[in-house]
Amino acid sequence: MSEQPSPSSKFQPEPPPGDALEVRLRHEANRLSWNQGAAAYTAELQETIDFLRSGKSSLHPIERRNLGDLREWCRSAIHLQCASGRDTLSLWIEGVERVVGVDISDVHIANARQASQALGAPAEWYRCDVLDTPHELDGSFDLVYTGRGALCWLHDLGAWGRVVRRLLKPGGKFHVLDDHPASWMFDQESETLQPSGVPYFGYWESSRGWPDSYLGDLGLPAEQHLTKYEHLWTLAEIHQALTGAGLAVELLGEYPDEYWDSFPRLKPELHGAFPMTFAMMGRRPA
Ligand SMILES: C[S@@+](CC[C@H](N)C(=O)[O-])C[C@H]1O[C@@H](n2cnc3c(N)ncnc32)[C@H](O)[C@@H]1O
Repeated sequence: MSEQPSPSSKFQPEPPPGDALEVRLRHEANRLSWNQGAAAYTAELQETIDFLRSGKSSLHPIERRNLGDLREWCRSAIHLQCASGRDTLSLWIEGVERVVGVDISDVHIANARQASQALGAPAEWYRCDVLDTPHELDGSFDLVYTGRGALCWLHDLGAWGRVVRRLLKPGGKFHVLDDHPASWMFDQESETLQPSGVPYFGYWESSRGWPDSYLGDLGLPAEQHLTKYEHLWTLAEIHQALTGAGLAVELLGEYPDEYWDSFPRLKPELHGAFPMTFAMMGRRPA
């Protein structure tokens, strides 16, 4: 999710050297920080299991519209940055026979395993950096699915695009639904549209703690919140990461719809005045 700088954030107008070690260090910091954040998902795990057991799916209406009836074309799907597996298992509920989830957080993957065992769902889980998704999975999937608050945690999007490509079968589709990068430019705590000070280009930030309208403080004292790193990827950069990897982008959608309460104080009449989310979908050429 596109958290805005908290008081403990460091504003970084210039991207740091994008070398591989720096990328790995930030991803590792995010693993530790997400192990803290995942506690909020653990607290809701039984609710998630009950939700899925009742046959409900958490796919977003935009995803459902773009993906159509999964039963008709999708036998296997991999969910990159799957968190505790709710959306991954929703793909299974929606009729995908083989679902695989990948996430860097130990706590998230432990939650996901617990949920799939409780449901008797034949899901496979990998705890790893998305950039290290095992090669044994290459070429296996009809769908590579990435959703809601994922891309900002990655610090090498070109490498991510190449992972998406290698996982897909020829002709397989990818789908991304995420925060619209333009939404980062508005202050999330304002009632009106106020600039956040975040520049659209070349922005990354480090911060500690989570917005109350998202995960809250998790009951941890502020000094125990670990540092996490986020990157604002522009629509062009996301498009380039996918096309540069040899994928064809066939749909780009921009939507006023939210998927989390990211602007909790914004006047209702201003919802819809700017794009909150985008979707990108396409395929690996056959
Ligand atoms: C906002 S959550 C995704 C939430 C999910 N879309 C949902 O609706 O439940 C972002 C996820 O990305 C994962 N993540 C962050 N960096 C990652 C990386 N480098 N590789 C794999 N997973 C990563 C985090 O552990 C977290 O589960």
